[in-house]
Amino acid sequence: MPHKEFSDEFSGRTALVTGAARGLGKAIAGVLLEQGARVVAADLLEDALDKTAAELSEKAPGSVWKRVLDVRDEKAVQGLFEWASRDDTIGTIDVLVNNAGVCYAHPFIEQDEAAYEDTFAVNVYGVLTVSRIFASYLIARKQGGNIVNLSSNAYRRPYAYFVEYNASKAAVANITHTLSQELAPYGINVNAVAPGAADTHMLRYSMERTIALDGGGVDVEECRKTWGPRQLRRLVDPREVGLVAAFLASERARIVRGQTIFVDGGDTAL
Ligand SMILES: NC(=O)c1ccc[n+]([C@@H]2O[C@H](COP(=O)([O-])OP(=O)(O)OC[C@H]3O[C@@H](n4cnc5c(N)ncnc54)[C@H](O)[C@@H]3O)[C@@H](O)[C@H]2O)c1
Repeated sequence: MPHKEFSDEFSGRTALVTGAARGLGKAIAGVLLEQGARVVAADLLEDALDKTAAELSEKAPGSVWKRVLDVRDEKAVQGLFEWASRDDTIGTIDVLVNNAGVCYAHPFIEQDEAAYEDTFAVNVYGVLTVSRIFASYLIARKQGGNIVNLSSNAYRRPYAYFVEYNASKAAVANITHTLSQELAPYGINVNAVAPGAADTHMLRYSMERTIALDGGGVDVEECRKTWGPRQLRRLVDPREVGLVAAFLASERARIVRGQTIFVDGGDTAL
């Protein structure tokens, strides 16, 4: 159900959501649309993106654009902003949600250079590249905006077998803090959400691999009860992440800066 009281919060604003074809990105895009934003949904996966964009467009006709994008490809990122600049109907993209992310599970002692490289290429370099090009685009237009990054509660409560993933999400929290200081003079506010285990494709992969690496004996359904917020005994709903991300992207969050907000039912509360 749309939150009526905030339904025009993003009226006149345009958000770019990376990794929007499924999971948390799709949910975040959905909430932003409900709250009046135009959304550019970008992802590597063309078929899934087509399907999701069609679904989102049904919800908010005329407010959704899709763009196949690999956040590791700097030229493609630049191309996206040039494409958006040529189409007046899109408006100025003034919200960036750096949601695209990958994870690979493997025992630490079994070196996996490819996993290290891709995790940092997408989760860290991707965030840096898209944020830098977005910031330059806004600065050239003398306009402020918001960046919301996807960290993870895994950076404070690390999961075994995901060493480079956990580290990449710690890096995202740190990048968020740094950029909030450096981009503040340009009117760009930078924050992050750090979800707990949320019901997505990535989570299912993580549970299946962890079970296998632990030698089996547990099924995914059991994991679904125990991986999420302990007090709630359920997984995080992607929409719950969307609601917090939308808040951080909004003008209501203008005094919240450089923060990484845990969206994990209190699991990492100090
Ligand atoms: N699901 C969770 O429990 C959880 C918890 C904390 C943080 N996160 C973070 O939230 C974000 C979304 O995760 P999710 O669970 O929805 O994962 P997901 O795998 O379901 O979706 C991720 C999306 O990102 C896209 N993507 C991957 N690499 C890309 C690239 N190079 N360029 C463009 N798009 C790319 C994928 O195609 C996919 O559509 C990630 O950054 C993830 O690390 C997820």
